[in-house]
Amino acid sequence: MNSALLKRLFCAIQSGSGPDMDVLCRKVVEQEKKVGHLRVAEDLERILEAPARRAIQPAAPRELSALPTSKRDSAPLLQEVPRDLLRHAMVLPPAVEHRLHRIEKEFAARTRLALHGLQPRRRVLLHGPPGCGKSLAAERLAWNTGLPLLKVRFDTLLSSYFGETHTNLRKVFDAAATTPCTLFLDECDTLARSRNDRNDVGEATRITNALLEMLEGYHGDGLVIAATNLDSALDPALIRRFDEVLRIPLPSSQEIEGILRTALSAVITEIGMPWHHLALEMDGMSCSEVTQIARNAAKHAVLEGRKKVTESDMRFALGEIHERHHQSCNFSHV
Ligand SMILES: Nc1ncnc2c1ncn2[C@@H]1O[C@H](COP(=O)(O)OP(=O)(O)OP(=O)(O)O)[C@@H](O)[C@H]1O
Ligand SMILES: [Mg+2]
Repeated sequence: MNSALLKRLFCAIQSGSGPDMDVLCRKVVEQEKKVGHLRVAEDLERILEAPARRAIQPAAPRELSALPTSKRDSAPLLQEVPRDLLRHAMVLPPAVEHRLHRIEKEFAARTRLALHGLQPRRRVLLHGPPGCGKSLAAERLAWNTGLPLLKVRFDTLLSSYFGETHTNLRKVFDAAATTPCTLFLDECDTLARSRNDRNDVGEATRITNALLEMLEGYHGDGLVIAATNLDSALDPALIRRFDEVLRIPLPSSQEIEGILRTALSAVITEIGMPWHHLALEMDGMSCSEVTQIARNAAKHAVLEGRKKVTESDMRFALGEIHERHHQSCNFSHV
């Protein structure tokens, strides 16, 4: 097999990028056919077509068909993200990686911890700037623990009728207590914001208190993860109810370089690409923007009919993001 292809395949495996691995595996099959290794190509193809083996099996058999629904119109309050769609490759500062890994390790050792009267960290609050991996981290925790990811649907949970939000929240936590899962309250500040919008202070306090009480009373065999990018909007009493409060910051230049290399691992990049310099120029950008630059650079190369992504493709994509920043500044001054 050609060494460049082998290297890209290893990068894709290392970064856990399923779609890239699939594309590269099919390229290996094609190449084996080209050099006349038809038997090997056929065997490899058969392996690719076989049903996927799961790295980790779900924690326990589950009755997901009976997910709770809202009181008034029976709309689903939770949405399960299929395991195949969970993304789990992340580039993180070592300290954040260590703390996420510790949650996974404690979950795996929960029975052993219980023998000593100890509990794993189960209530996790993720906060930090937008586009830096809060939602991704919840998916990764679900993937690595094998717990199904159940996202709370705030569109159906929040009700303008007195007491119904409380009832809906109760149903959600009751379901999490009986079904081992990762209960994910993404953008949990939605609860706070919608309450402020309604200017109903009494109801606001009741919902916060309900959430406090439910978090405290949660003893399910899974995880509860909440995420917010509003660092100051959460009630300190609520923050105290979490066993782990983890800030996911903007990436450093080292992490930016890692994200660029990972995002481009399935394509050919020019030799001598100034990764480090480019990463320094992206200082202050979110992981999401960096990923977008890498993808746009790859698309630019493809549309220009080239197989290699070059420094100028990267600069073109970088320029576009700078342009967008500039435009959004102008918008905010209108
Ligand atoms: N740490 C990371 N490593 C690699 N890629 C990342 C990382 N964080 C974010 N990304 C990329 O950015 C995208 C958006 O990330 P994500 O939705 O997790 O951000 P978020 O923190 O939840 O943002 P928001 O506050 O807007 O909800 C991801 O789909 C992924 O492509
Ligand atoms: Mg998010």
